[in-house]
Amino acid sequence: RRPYDALMSIPKAELHLHIEGTLEPELAFALAARNGVALPYADTDDLRKAYQFSDLQSFLNLYYELMAVLRTEDDFADLADAYLARAAAQGVRHAEIFFDPQAHISRGVGIGTVVEGLGRALDRSEAVHGVSTQLIMCFLRDESAESAMETLEAAKPYLGRIVGVGLDSAEVGHPPVKFREVYEAAAALGLRRVAHAGEEGPPSYITEALDVLGVERIDHGLRCMEDPELVARLVRERVPLTLCPLSNVRLRAVDVLEEHPLPAMLDAGLLCTVNSDDPAYFGGYVGDNFLAVREALGLSPDRLRELARNSFVASFLDHDEERRAR
Ligand code: HPA
Ligand code: ZN
Repeated sequence: RRPYDALMSIPKAELHLHIEGTLEPELAFALAARNGVALPYADTDDLRKAYQFSDLQSFLNLYYELMAVLRTEDDFADLADAYLARAAAQGVRHAEIFFDPQAHISRGVGIGTVVEGLGRALDRSEAVHGVSTQLIMCFLRDESAESAMETLEAAKPYLGRIVGVGLDSAEVGHPPVKFREVYEAAAALGLRRVAHAGEEGPPSYITEALDVLGVERIDHGLRCMEDPELVARLVRERVPLTLCPLSNVRLRAVDVLEEHPLPAMLDAGLLCTVNSDDPAYFGGYVGDNFLAVREALGLSPDRLRELARNSFVASFLDHDEERRAR
């Protein structure tokens, strides 16, 4: 990489980022030591060797395993602070951050510990890193609808810190309709709604997320390209898609980055954004994703600026906040 690259510093909003997926091997070992948690890896090199994924599930297995090191408010604050520092260095001015409360509650770590810990880092983020932030709590779609509803209930004391709800984890076999009631309840509480759809799951999951869950953004949405009528609708309704190119290669949603449909999606008029998903696992933060798509797909400077602009348009910032952020 050249010492200075204007694409790195161009202002960006990051809209698809799992905070647990920013856990770098060095921090994982530091937190393991701090908390007396044993990791089944000799060292960071040994752990990095496990970052060879064949699909979404093979990644999720490691992602959930490593969360064992996250136990205290300090751990979540340190995790978020490390992400915000890295994101700021790559031009991120605003981040809408996912977290997975059920993955912590099931290990005996309460949602209060998670939200207060993350919140401590988020509260000082604008002053320290120049990054504004919001939190989106995700339901694990391979857990039951009842568990999602209990999680929403547990989040009620913390809704002042949570802007919206999302849906993640293993997609195939867990269609959006399973979460109709909890999304209705979230909407009634004034929460914004997004959902992962069309990463590994079929285009019909994208339609269902829009029609049944009332989401205002689709996370990934890659497989919409198999359904021209759906593409036409997403264009017409200006539904943002939060794409994660390096993630798609690592989880084998596309074979190689050179074959990523992003250029075709932009040509079709879709409101695309570029994001990092789980940057510690997939080989790069959001600026790295921008550099990679420029390199592999030959996107023009105009296209790259459009992607950066789209990230603010698709964000939950209002008009004035958006202008200040970029
Ligand atoms: N897809 C679904 N669930 C996830 C992901 C993802 O890319 N990352 C973390 N949880
Ligand atoms: Zn994701």
